[in-house]
Amino acid sequence: MKFFLDTAHIAEIREAKELGLLDGVTTNPSLVAKTGKPYASLVEEICQICPGPVSAEVLATDFDGMLKEAREWFKLAEQVVVKIPMTADGLKVVKICSEEGIKTNVTLCFSVLQALAAAKVGATYISPFVGRLDDLGYVGMDLIQEIKTVYDNYNFSTQILVASIRSLQHIQQSALYGAHVATIPMKVYEQMLHHSLTVKGLAKFVEDAKKIPV
Ligand code: E4P
Repeated sequence: MKFFLDTAHIAEIREAKELGLLDGVTTNPSLVAKTGKPYASLVEEICQICPGPVSAEVLATDFDGMLKEAREWFKLAEQVVVKIPMTADGLKVVKICSEEGIKTNVTLCFSVLQALAAAKVGATYISPFVGRLDDLGYVGMDLIQEIKTVYDNYNFSTQILVASIRSLQHIQQSALYGAHVATIPMKVYEQMLHHSLTVKGLAKFVEDAKKIPV
């Protein structure tokens, strides 16, 4: 399973890259707004650091506007994946992008049928938002299992990109269920490498190492 970083912060992207655990980056308008930087130049900067896919979202919501922006994002860098909302107009844009060889990430997916529709029009990635489903009292990860089953049933090549990740359990279950990608916020990313028994065990080894004669 690939690890994408869900951020628009350059320092976080550099940190994940140094760890050797950066397969790609996903951004969205809310994350970019927090940086105070223009979206296009930020994506260019991210692409220079991250060799993998970088998702950049269209800001328009109408068909013509989204298609225009999708083509502009595509021109920016080879690895840009255009993030398009899960709407009827969005799917029309995804279909055209797929025909033109523009990679897409259908965002704000909350149901199996939305995921099925996105795959049928040729989406490269589908982004089910598991944390936001949990917030409403559903079990977000159930959706990942269901989409995986449906995609496998019909051999769709659309990749499941688990989004809105809030916990280590979300990442672990994503891998167990066979999702292709987990896009992870930095806070959870850092927790992933930590275990209290590792800390405790290492402290003991360091202590005992002092008793070894030289
Ligand atoms: C995914 O691509 C989105 O940017 C992100 O995962 C949304 O997460 P949130 O629900 O924590 O805002």
